[in-house]
Amino acid sequence: MNLQPTVLALITPLLVAVIPVAFAADTAGLIADCEACHGKNGASTDPMVPTIAGYSAYYLAESLLIYKEKARPCPQIKYLTGAKKGTSTTMCEAVAHLSEEQSNAIGEHYAEKPFVRAKQAFDPALAKIGSGLHELHCTKCHEDGGSSPDDDAGILAGQWTPFLDVQMTEYLEGKRPMDEKMKPKMEVLKPEDVKALLHFYASFQ
Ligand code: HEC
Ligand code: HEC
Repeated sequence: MNLQPTVLALITPLLVAVIPVAFAADTAGLIADCEACHGKNGASTDPMVPTIAGYSAYYLAESLLIYKEKARPCPQIKYLTGAKKGTSTTMCEAVAHLSEEQSNAIGEHYAEKPFVRAKQAFDPALAKIGSGLHELHCTKCHEDGGSSPDDDAGILAGQWTPFLDVQMTEYLEGKRPMDEKMKPKMEVLKPEDVKALLHFYASFQ
């Protein structure tokens, strides 16, 4: 009697069932680490930590790679919850061990979650000025007030503005590399323009 086909027939469905479960378990462990800072399902409750739910899978995976290569500033941050609560680290250290496959899987995971807009104060008059500036300089690449993940350029509408403020400063000071075509649009902004733009992004609630 030839056992092989029988064994294969038995084993194949087992493998098909076990491999995705093992992969999902692996991703779940990684996700728990992210959520100790980025909040449940990637919806941040800390103004210095961005919400990452609902971003495009591409932007997420690409961002993880950029931090892994330390090609963007990595401010010190303490774990907000979980077993490592209070331990100081950086985004670059948090992703140093991730493979490209894991980064892609994490990107796919958060792209499926809803982006939750931050509840934050804003000045309606400044938000109106910011809206005009956004239409003039930014909407080409950050559509609908920067609310579309399809731009692969993050989400600005409803993102925590203390976090966005840091990003704007890093771009303007040349510390975070930026899209070549975004540069001239950023460089014309006066400090009061940046402020108005942030009030505009905060007005999405
Ligand atoms: C210890 C806290 C901490 C952990 C753990 C952590 N992050 Fe972050 N993350 C941050 C902070 C703070 C920033 C903002 C850093 C900056 O100013 O560049 C950030 C930025 C990001 C960004 C950039 C968002 C944007 O709008 O450009 C992405 C994407 C991200 N994190 C994803 C993740 C993922 C996925 C994980 C898990 C593998 C993770 N983070 C783990 C704190 C953390
Ligand atoms: C030519 C396209 C383009 C224009 C115009 C543009 N951006 Fe961007 N922006 C991008 C891309 C692409 C990214 C993704 C990350 C990167 O390249 O740094 C980005 C990222 C950002 C980020 C970081 C988002 C995050 O989650 O980390 C901010 C903030 C931002 N842009 C603000 C602006 C503002 C404000 C304007 C208008 C004054 C503007 N951008 C105009 C293409 C553009």
